[in-house]
Amino acid sequence: MSSTFGTLFRVTTFGESHGRAIGCIVDGCPARIPLSADDIQPQLDRRRPGASALTTPRNESDVVSILSGTDRGQTLGTPIGLTIPNADTQPGDYAEMETVPRPSHADFTYAEKYCLRARSGGGRASARETAARVAAGAVAEKMLSVFQPVQIVAWVESVGSIAARRPDLATIARADVDATLVRCPDPDAAPRMIAAIEAARDAGDSLGGIVACACRGVPAGWGEPVFDKLTAELAHAMLSIPATRGFEIGEGFGATLLRGSQHNDPFAAKPGGGIRPATNHCGGIQGGISNGEILFFRVAFKPVSTISLPQKTAAFDGAPVVFAAKGRHDPCVLPRAVPVVESMAALVLADAFLQQQVQRIPHP
Ligand SMILES: Cc1cc2nc3c(=O)[nH]c(=O)nc-3n(C[C@H](O)[C@H](O)[C@H](O)COP(=O)(O)O)c2cc1C
Repeated sequence: MSSTFGTLFRVTTFGESHGRAIGCIVDGCPARIPLSADDIQPQLDRRRPGASALTTPRNESDVVSILSGTDRGQTLGTPIGLTIPNADTQPGDYAEMETVPRPSHADFTYAEKYCLRARSGGGRASARETAARVAAGAVAEKMLSVFQPVQIVAWVESVGSIAARRPDLATIARADVDATLVRCPDPDAAPRMIAAIEAARDAGDSLGGIVACACRGVPAGWGEPVFDKLTAELAHAMLSIPATRGFEIGEGFGATLLRGSQHNDPFAAKPGGGIRPATNHCGGIQGGISNGEILFFRVAFKPVSTISLPQKTAAFDGAPVVFAAKGRHDPCVLPRAVPVVESMAALVLADAFLQQQVQRIPHP
């Protein structure tokens, strides 16, 4: 039922793909954080559709309005309401989908669950909903910048079988990622990825891939130790993004191929006192709690299900049909998924930061 994410820093998103608007309520953001639409718009611009030939031609300007929760450029500590209009809707593209559920999209399961669906555009299952998450994530990043600046940078690590070299996690920046259309900072792999996406698009097909993400500046101690481990919260956040198929932290499934002697992160003295892990195979989290190293995780995305290649399938009434999707769709979600992954990470970290403040109440 829930369209709400988070414990203390909470976001509730609303809106259907082809309704009047989408948006969110951000609740739990402390007062007196400087916040204006200019803090939110840049990440929305990175996610917006129609921005490049590699994405859906649906052309939304995605201009955010702050409806509530701020005054004279500062948060009030009250719910922050954000909306983004849906301007470029073409409900006619979805007429056939009223009778034929798209293979591997959410049309069939929504119909089974609610016995009623939004008439067009995938409703809440559309990636349009992720614009609201990106707006909320920008608020989370702004709050963190005041108390504990973290840098969250995601990039496209692979498209289909084309894999990029891993960048330096300590220095990779959003500007490096945005230097290529496909948001892959490896200049050798990026053109091959772009060519592969264009070929899939021209063939009426689609491609999947992996987004990697590094979060720098997270101090040791964030994350709750048992059910709400930071790992579990990140996995929850990432696997709630539409079209995701997997989440790995640190060496991930690759750890199963290593021995303890290869996978362990032994400690070393830290300049200025104390110790820190000398390596980071674990991806910055141990026992569900951040260890002060860079958080590193990867998110797998499937090939987009709405394709224009004809597919043999069945209508809701059981009649066999050959379905070739009309409408405007991403041939590969990866470039647009990058800011969505960053935003979900920001929401998790903002929540973890606030929860850690409760642990730090001074004892009498
Ligand atoms: C940034 C982004 C863009 C997407 N664009 C499309 C699209 O154009 N067409 C489509 O069929 N699915 C697209 N998706 C995926 C669907 O929203 C998703 O497959 C659908 O909700 C079914 O959910 P599931 O794949 O997680 O099972 C996109 C996902 C993301 C993250």
